[in-house]
Amino acid sequence: MLRKKFDKIMRMAQNIQTERLTLRQWATSDLAPYANMCSNPEVMKWIGSGSVRTRSECENAIQYFQVGWRDRGFGLFAVELKPNGRFIGFCGLSVPTFLPEILPAVEIGWRLDKPYWGRGFGTEAAEASLSFGLNTLDLDEIVSIHQVGNDASARIMWKIGMRFDKETIDTSCERSVRIYRKNREE
Ligand SMILES: CC(C)(COP(=O)(O)OP(=O)(O)OC[C@H]1O[C@@H](n2cnc3c(N)ncnc32)[C@H](O)[C@@H]1OP(=O)(O)O)[C@@H](O)C(=O)NCCC(=O)NCCS
Repeated sequence: MLRKKFDKIMRMAQNIQTERLTLRQWATSDLAPYANMCSNPEVMKWIGSGSVRTRSECENAIQYFQVGWRDRGFGLFAVELKPNGRFIGFCGLSVPTFLPEILPAVEIGWRLDKPYWGRGFGTEAAEASLSFGLNTLDLDEIVSIHQVGNDASARIMWKIGMRFDKETIDTSCERSVRIYRKNREE
C-alpha cells in the first residue's frame, strides 16, 4: 500500500506544469547552467555565508538533490522555461538540516538565475512546490526560511500565504534568519 502511494507520488513528482514553467527532475545537462548561476555573487548573496560555489561543489549538490528525491520522495525541482526548455534555477522541498532548532521540518526554497528575476517566476514555482508538498505529499506543514535582508524571498513567502513565525540565528553562518510556516488547513 505504502509502496503504491510512493510510486504514485514519484510519477506525479516527475514533472509539474505551471502556466510558464516546468518543474522536473534533474538532468546531466543542468550542471553547466546550475554552476553558472551559483558562481554569481548576486545570486548567492543571501545563501549561507554568501559565498559562490565551484563547479565541483555544484556537481555534488545535484547528486545530493537526486539522492534526496530517491530517499525521501521529495526534493528540489529543476525549473525550466516552457517555450524553450531553458534551465533557470530550482524550487522545491528540502530538510533544513542547517537549522536543527526547527527540525523535524520540510522547507520550501528557491534559487533562480539573475536574468530571470522580476517576472513572477519565483512566485509561480513556489506556489506549485507548496501545493506539491501540502496536497500531493499530504505534509502537515511546510516552513520557509530567509536571511534578514532577502526581501524578494520574504515577499514570495507572504504572497504564497505563509505566516511569519520567528527570527533566529543560523549558526552555520551567524546570520539572522526569519522562519515562515504554512499548514494544510491554512
Ligand atoms: C528570490 C528569487 C527566487 C525571486 O525570484 P523572482 O522570480 O524575481 O520573484 P518574483 O518575480 O516572483 O517576485 C516576488 C515578489 O518579490 C518582489 N521583489 C523582488 N525583488 C525584490 C527586492 N529586492 N526587494 C523587495 N521585493 C522584491 C517582487 O516585486 C514580487 O512582489 P510583487 O509581485 O508584489 O511585486 C530570486 O531573486 C533569487 O533567486 N534570488 C537569489 C537566490 C535566493 O536568494 N534564494 C532564496 C534564499 S531564501
